[in-house]
Amino acid sequence: MDLSRAREYEWNGRVGPFTIMLTDGVFEPTHTSREVAEGLNINPGETVIDVGCGSGVLSFVAARLGAGKVYGTDVNPEGVEFARWNADRLGLGHVVDVREGSLFDPLVGVKADVVIGDVSGVPDDIAAVSGWFPGGFSGGPTGSEVPVAMLQAAEAHLVPGGRLYLPTGSIQDENAVLAAARKIFDDRMQQLRERLLPLPTKIGESAVVRALMDSGVVRLIRRGSRLLWRLRVWECTLPPA
Ligand SMILES: C[S@@+](CC[C@H](N)C(=O)[O-])C[C@H]1O[C@@H](n2cnc3c(N)ncnc32)[C@H](O)[C@@H]1O
Repeated sequence: MDLSRAREYEWNGRVGPFTIMLTDGVFEPTHTSREVAEGLNINPGETVIDVGCGSGVLSFVAARLGAGKVYGTDVNPEGVEFARWNADRLGLGHVVDVREGSLFDPLVGVKADVVIGDVSGVPDDIAAVSGWFPGGFSGGPTGSEVPVAMLQAAEAHLVPGGRLYLPTGSIQDENAVLAAARKIFDDRMQQLRERLLPLPTKIGESAVVRALMDSGVVRLIRRGSRLLWRLRVWECTLPPA
């Protein structure tokens, strides 16, 4: 592991403060991470899967909220390395098990009470102009493809009555993500959080954002000279056995 580029990041969100180590090759926690963390409901001893764990920040929040076991997965090898290191630094190495691979692929046979589904959900073209996704691991052409694949695979990894925490946004094809979630969870979806977030001018005024708005994939709100997008966090629950 190349530590020469590592820097400290302080998490001041739920159950913080604590510090984690990052590089420019590891996804840095965002407002979405904070809002998902605020919405999490973890009972003592529960098993949690954190899909697209990045630095591991939400795995650590889940562990600090009392999870008995947390499995993190990410396709970004550098993220996986740092998430493992961060778990050890925080004294959570015995609780948090981070595995490299896509979605639930590294978790054959693992079932959880909770899935944290904060996997990449920003359209590839917006990710490319923003530089938000180190390694280019973004959400697919409309930002819905990776979250929808995650949702379709999640059911097999949740126990009856299990819960999935899902961020959605008007910066992606949100209707496609919500339709996929409703197919699995039906009306057992509760909106927990909502926030309007500014889109940096450079991104809001880019040709790719204009094209995605024109095609109806992305729906932004104009407030004066600012463009905002709406983030929502959902708790989706499977029926009991
Ligand atoms: C929006 S970031 C969230 C990271 C972390 N949850 C946080 O709050 O900082 C999404 C993460 O999903 C990862 N990712 C993208 N596609 C993936 C896939 N198919 N399987 C697993 N992880 C993926 C990215 O590498 C990135 O670390």
